[in-house]
Amino acid sequence: MSEEHTYSVTMEEQEYIYPSYEFVSQANMTDPKIREKMSLDNFPYYYKEFADMLEWDEYWHTMLDTSDAPCWRWFVGGRLNASYNCIDRHLKEHKNKTAIHFVPELEEEDIVHMTYQTLYMRVNEVAAVLRDELGLKKGDRVTLHLPMVPELPITMLACARLGIIHSQVFGGFSGMAAGERAWDSESEVLITMDAYYRSGKLLDHFAKAEEACKKSEEMGQTIKTVCIWQRYKGKNSSPTPMKEGRDIIMNDLVAKHKREIVEPVSMPAEDILFLMYTSGTTGRPKGIQHSTGGYLSYVTAMSHIIQDIKPTDVYWCMADIGWITGHSFIVYGPLSLGASTVIYEGVPTYPDAGRCWRVAEELDVNIYHTSPTAIRMLRKAGYDEPDKYNYKFKHMTTVGEPIEPEVWRWYYEKVGKKKAAIVDTYWQTENGGFLCSTIPGLEPMKPGSAGKTVPGLHAVVYDGEGNEIPPGAGKAGNICMVNPWPGSMQTIWKDRDRYVRTYYERYNKDPKSTDWRDWPYLTGDAAVLAADGYFRILGRIDDLINVAGHRLGTKEVESAALAVEEVAEAAVVPAKDEIKGSIPDLYVSLKPGYEPSEELEKKINNMIREVVGPIATPKGVWICADMPKTRSGKIMRRVLGSISNNEDVGDVTTLANPEIVQDIKEMVDKKLGR
Ligand code: PRX
Repeated sequence: MSEEHTYSVTMEEQEYIYPSYEFVSQANMTDPKIREKMSLDNFPYYYKEFADMLEWDEYWHTMLDTSDAPCWRWFVGGRLNASYNCIDRHLKEHKNKTAIHFVPELEEEDIVHMTYQTLYMRVNEVAAVLRDELGLKKGDRVTLHLPMVPELPITMLACARLGIIHSQVFGGFSGMAAGERAWDSESEVLITMDAYYRSGKLLDHFAKAEEACKKSEEMGQTIKTVCIWQRYKGKNSSPTPMKEGRDIIMNDLVAKHKREIVEPVSMPAEDILFLMYTSGTTGRPKGIQHSTGGYLSYVTAMSHIIQDIKPTDVYWCMADIGWITGHSFIVYGPLSLGASTVIYEGVPTYPDAGRCWRVAEELDVNIYHTSPTAIRMLRKAGYDEPDKYNYKFKHMTTVGEPIEPEVWRWYYEKVGKKKAAIVDTYWQTENGGFLCSTIPGLEPMKPGSAGKTVPGLHAVVYDGEGNEIPPGAGKAGNICMVNPWPGSMQTIWKDRDRYVRTYYERYNKDPKSTDWRDWPYLTGDAAVLAADGYFRILGRIDDLINVAGHRLGTKEVESAALAVEEVAEAAVVPAKDEIKGSIPDLYVSLKPGYEPSEELEKKINNMIREVVGPIATPKGVWICADMPKTRSGKIMRRVLGSISNNEDVGDVTTLANPEIVQDIKEMVDKKLGR
């Protein structure tokens, strides 16, 4: 999308669908005055209720300190521990209750039900290992590169217990991606696993650790220790050899600290809980830095108000813990409320399209949370499949990308059996928790719309000049948040300038101001605001591609392609995809003396999978004689995007090399049989 992205939007307004009486009658949030109470006039004082959902060792004295704007400091003076709040405080009443249901991908393996007491013991033992075996302490960073297994939240909570900053890298990412993030966060310890199941195959995950160490070392950070969890305790499931002096089996270390109890470290509210790396528009990933008190209070409140979680619920969020959705809504939010959270190891459609619904039936899941990509996939693989199973959801979530109204309807009618309330939650890694959503027990749903801002947040849509686009104007613009909120990131790790530049510079009028009113937060998304206050999110305004609900920087993929010796130029554009929303489509030109070939296409494809990870696998690798360019030499990604999506390329006569457009189009059309 161009810099100035104000344009008219014509999508039919969808009708309201009201939540069932059954849902409303039990909903957590039914106060019709909630929005009034949380109006901007009362900002920031209404966030006291959020903070009061936690147990504090020391109560805070200042709700919001804006003196270092736009780095907001919440609940200043308070002290607490996140691990204590997610585990210890529930033991008195709920120690026997399941904290985590772990569902292995292989159906013949038993589901593991871990009580709060067991979680408490395991987290303490791991904390003892981190402190006494690895010498880690408050403020140190540790890179985790773990799949969807209980050891992941256990390790995260053990870090949190000691104030160690965890940085979990999505397990599906490459070793190189993990290494780069370990370098950026200056981690000396990498915690990984030998293997895990995906699509019925036991993948050698430990193989990635070697790449990670190599990459980190090259960049200037030595990983001194690699701790390896065993997928099957007592058994090594990876054929990759361990390196003497560097690699240790985590389970062996834990065995030395059986039943050891580690006192939680009382952390200032403003100390860092974790880093979560996300794609930026330039190559280097951004370490999004989240606080302890602000973040935890925000995800706890959102889990209560929007997710409608009660301690008696069985809650299944099918995201990966390696993404922010998993951090906030598999681990910290539900556990802070004392609910039972489900962790599923594998692919939603393995071994068949009924798998999710069998898990739901078996565990009596009543809250279900997933992405439009997964919903599209489940709908395609088994349209009527949910009918066969006797589960009952009261509440469902869609998150991560825009959902098409017809896909939403399938989710509502088939999966939710017209009983479950649906929330379409719009937010980002940077936000800790939701920005927009309906309040499920109070407000009607509108297919394809995220709804209003969540209580406490206030948004505007600006045009390119910074004028507000009024509700109901039918025009899209940049959606910005007017006020700060406790879950918002503190900054980008070690890069305050980039933080200010990326999120605040655009609409800030006075860089010296310490008044929050002067610092609207730029989400980087285009949105339309309807007359009823509901936002429809259209997608990114920058160089990011949303693949299956997750952000990829075009630059990351392009840099990987450029690492192939033969490649001279690379441009990535989003190609529309029926299931994943969009997929990167890659155009390259070669250095002189090289010829296109299928082998070369494969080589480039493999390089991207290796450097970024399979999530970035391009839909096509198009080797072109030249790239369409402006006279100033800029590659016209818009034109390539139109070719990928079989759309009109528009007027290209002003390009430096207009003739190339037709050649590329013919090549693509021919290969795709269009
Ligand atoms: O473009 C928006 C889209 O996903 C981006 C954030 O990606 P990430 O940080 O990976 O976090 C994903 C999960 C929180 C946003 O900038 N997005 C997220 N939720 C929605 C959405 N687009 C439309 N509707 C949503 N509900």
